[in-house]
Amino acid sequence: MKEKVVFVCQECGAQSPKWMGRCAECGSWNSLVEERVGESSAAATAGTNRYRQLGAGGSAKLYADVDIADALRLSTGIDEFDRVLGGGIVPGSLVLLGGEPGIGKSTLLLQAAAHFAREAGPVLYASGEESEHQIKSRGDRLGVGEAPLYLLSETCIERILEEIARLTPALVVVDSVQTVFSMRFQSAPGSIGQVREAATQFLFAAKGQNIPVVLVGHVTKDGSLAGPKVLEHVVDTVLYFEGERHHSHRVVRAVKNRFGAVSELGVFEMTGAGLRPVPNPSKLFLSERASGTPGSAVLCCVEGSRPILVEVQALVSASTYGNPRRMAIGLDQNRVSLLLAVLEKRAGLTLAGDDVYVNIAGGMNVEEPAADLSVVAAIASSVRNRSLADSTAVFGEVGLSGEVRGIPQAPLRVREAVQMGFTRVVMPAVNIDSRDPSLQVDGCELVGVRTVGEALDQLLT
Ligand code: TYD
Ligand code: MG
Repeated sequence: MKEKVVFVCQECGAQSPKWMGRCAECGSWNSLVEERVGESSAAATAGTNRYRQLGAGGSAKLYADVDIADALRLSTGIDEFDRVLGGGIVPGSLVLLGGEPGIGKSTLLLQAAAHFAREAGPVLYASGEESEHQIKSRGDRLGVGEAPLYLLSETCIERILEEIARLTPALVVVDSVQTVFSMRFQSAPGSIGQVREAATQFLFAAKGQNIPVVLVGHVTKDGSLAGPKVLEHVVDTVLYFEGERHHSHRVVRAVKNRFGAVSELGVFEMTGAGLRPVPNPSKLFLSERASGTPGSAVLCCVEGSRPILVEVQALVSASTYGNPRRMAIGLDQNRVSLLLAVLEKRAGLTLAGDDVYVNIAGGMNVEEPAADLSVVAAIASSVRNRSLADSTAVFGEVGLSGEVRGIPQAPLRVREAVQMGFTRVVMPAVNIDSRDPSLQVDGCELVGVRTVGEALDQLLT
């Protein structure tokens, strides 16, 4: 049979019969890569059979008859990892763990695999990146010890599937999806066709044999998963490893989860003996806070179902160049610009000739608008060179007219602040007025504010 050549856009997956400099579908430049689909037509006709594997016993079931016990979860033995997965890994689910190279994906999965093997049965750890030898020498450092953990240094998907069939493991880890290839396709590992094929084949393996499979995915510089969209909707759960290489803490975040809450996160610390779960992240993020320094505010944010206290820092200094710099790390730059405008217009601060730098200490990322009031407070504190009281935490959304708006999950935030020893919380008055009984906390003064001006009066006395 004649080999068919198509050009596939690595960004969106669109196909074209000839090479083009720009993808006609998504408009990205230089993204078309040649792929040979030797057996594609055969595979396409056989497709009807191939995809049949999935739907075992195809008749529709009555809602009431569906047995919920099927959705039992298996613990990975690492609390923080279980938490992002929504309470453990669901049998037959396909999980994608993405992250930059060197951030700790292999380390975490090897640790989880070892725990899992001890508790739940044999685990197959297939790596296309490291030899069995290398994996073992890392494992020794992590204290893997005695466990039915099978290592397989292999890049061919069909071979890995054979081993899965032979061992019928309780968990499969594939490190990474970009290094494996299927013999069906001749394109290089890591190309969109291969990545998609790998995801599909492991999906069948997971669903067909009810074995959970974890795929590791490397992430490109701009933060998207290489071979991007194709993977995300095939898998059940997308976890994303965040953190800066220069900080020891790492955050694993659920971006998509068919079996749990999204934006749930687990916090780890990278140590000499692997990743250590951090059960109390607030303590970690506040550990280096200097007391009594201007330009620092403690924010109580909520990630998923978890309240975390972080320190928001701001530095405002006279600009030496004509064009003042505004920089935000860990926060949305546009949001910060907006808050600066509100401060100028509604709180009477003059920032026009100043450089403004805002940063979340410790390398966390906060996206929720509840951070607004803490950003405003940190900036004003730096401008006026007055510090906030050490025992005060703050949260609230700020609107364009300078009003402080209510935010969700206020009681959760207050409780976390109290637990961390804060005795005063400045927050939206709306949230206090709502008379939520769970907001009553002994030993903590709740100060409700309605405008940015009021908030600054309360904070910078
Ligand atoms: P790794 O899991 O290999 O990253 P990935 O699979 O995401 O590419 O992590 C490698 C980094 O972690 C490396 O820079 C060394 C560091 N590390 C430790 O600090 N302590 C350890 O015990 C281990 C195993 C790795
Ligand atoms: Mg790795």
